[in-house]
Amino acid sequence: MKTVTMVAPVNIAVIKYWGKRDEELILPINDSISGTLSTDFMCAKTTIQASPQFKENKFWLNGKEQNFDSPRLDSCLKEVKRRASPSCPILNWKIAICSENNFPTAAGLASSAAGYACLVAALAKLYKIEGDISSIARRGSGSACRSIYGGWVQWIKGDRPTGEDSIAIQLAPVAHWPEMRVLILVVNDERKKYSSTSGMKKSVETSDLLKYRASECVPKRVEAMKEAIFRKDFESFAKITMEDSNQFHAICLDTFPPCVYMNDTSHSISDVVHTYNECKSSNRVAYTFDAGPNACIYLLESETEEFLSVINYVFPPSSNTGYLKGLQVRQKPINKELEM
Ligand code: DP6
Repeated sequence: MKTVTMVAPVNIAVIKYWGKRDEELILPINDSISGTLSTDFMCAKTTIQASPQFKENKFWLNGKEQNFDSPRLDSCLKEVKRRASPSCPILNWKIAICSENNFPTAAGLASSAAGYACLVAALAKLYKIEGDISSIARRGSGSACRSIYGGWVQWIKGDRPTGEDSIAIQLAPVAHWPEMRVLILVVNDERKKYSSTSGMKKSVETSDLLKYRASECVPKRVEAMKEAIFRKDFESFAKITMEDSNQFHAICLDTFPPCVYMNDTSHSISDVVHTYNECKSSNRVAYTFDAGPNACIYLLESETEEFLSVINYVFPPSSNTGYLKGLQVRQKPINKELEM
């Protein structure tokens, strides 16, 4: 019997991935950039056991048994085994995978990113794979490839139809910008109505705005975002982050039928951020929303206390107004290197 356990963090995109050019290999239509959170905050944990005694492969997620025949799981497993040495003694043993997230699954909180990054990291350790594994994690869930690395990460879309050049790279380690913080304002932790996978597929099929975003906007934004991160220019970083989030949700509305992920509370949070920044005469706080209503707030440590007091005032945690369902506040530095 052989056992490995790994932990992987979530990542929060500041330039969003939205749209695939190849559904099976999970190849995106544009580059994306994210910050990876520290593993003591929101993370996935996966244990894999391999044994010659096991009769069949098994998979549990958060204590519930899942169907092992998922195309994405299969694609990751096949690719890991293809890269393993043919003399690896456990290559033909059956495996039992046990994964858990310490945060809501499929609520737009990047659970699949952490989940697949963790699964692939564990498989890679089990079968002793060398080299970059982000292109394998990508086959599980696109955004998972960015969780393989810590700090600031770019997923390069690549050009080849086979996808070997569609990989994640680290732009800067967490130590580059240690003052950066992320707050997650949980508006709703229920499963989202439409998954990112189906939403982006519909956008590719129906949104003209998406084509314009991928060809005209994102390439320029990626360069400007890299520059802002390298120079630790929070003002520009915040502006680009919010513009990109807004454009992504505009595309969701331009999709037919539209995918509405943000709700009234999400829009109120965005208003509070803009009002706060106007009062400060500069962008001190940046929101970004993924495929769900929850807000991810990037800000510097020097701003957290004051901004949190504003949030607590506008959305009192004890009030029963139907506003914020729960407020999760984390002030850990974004990112340690992924412990692998
Ligand atoms: C809005 O990676 O969940 O969070 O590749 O189909 O699994 P699949 O999609 P997924 O999409 C994430 C979309 C996003 C933006 C981002 O993280 O870049």
